[in-house]
Amino acid sequence: MTDSTLPCRLVVLISGRGSNMQAIAGHIEQAGLNGRIQVVISNKADAPGLDWAQRRGLATEVVPHREFATREAFDDALARVIDRYQPDYVLLAGFMRILTTGFVQRYAGKLVNIHPSLLPSFPGLNTHQQALDAGVQFHGCSVHFVTPVLDHGPIIAQSLVPVLQGDDAQTLAGRVLATEHQVYTQAVQWLVEGRVALQPDGRVHVSGVAQRGFYFPA
Ligand code: GRF
Repeated sequence: MTDSTLPCRLVVLISGRGSNMQAIAGHIEQAGLNGRIQVVISNKADAPGLDWAQRRGLATEVVPHREFATREAFDDALARVIDRYQPDYVLLAGFMRILTTGFVQRYAGKLVNIHPSLLPSFPGLNTHQQALDAGVQFHGCSVHFVTPVLDHGPIIAQSLVPVLQGDDAQTLAGRVLATEHQVYTQAVQWLVEGRVALQPDGRVHVSGVAQRGFYFPA
């Protein structure tokens, strides 16, 4: 952000239930952050998170990906809608579309995602099953800047969650999701406060913050 008196303008992209979006909206209000969700955009008209956003009085838009012949055409249409809201940051919150390189470059340094694994481990889908299959003893989530490589990019914050004996993908997903809400809201707070810098070495620096990994013992 350049002018710290103006609210940080946030655009949130969802595809489904939107629990991360809800956590972010709640935290902005409860913590009195100088940030505002300008619009919630979904690629699916029936995303449950849209109803929640509307009930909350947030602006919503739908850009249905099925109506576009190519990824490029969809991303162009999405970018046109996003740009109307002049965001400081575009927050992907369960937005289940692979974005083109052109789109990612257009929002370089502004595009943030949450992924339910400790990146760079387990990009892609079914991350909890991937973690169980690999036998890792710790799992978690990552909030990161988006690069053209899927589920990859400079890490802003992570949660560390122990894998318990007897865990299945569902129980593990539930415990990780609870941490997603805490880690994403914390990361958004840092963004809104203008403390997050993407360094030339491709890593993130958050001023005044020594610890960006959060341990959630079971
Ligand atoms: C979360 O686990 C997020 O990390 C992943 O998709 C899920 C979305 O959940 N990308 P919600 O829509 O925020 O509830």
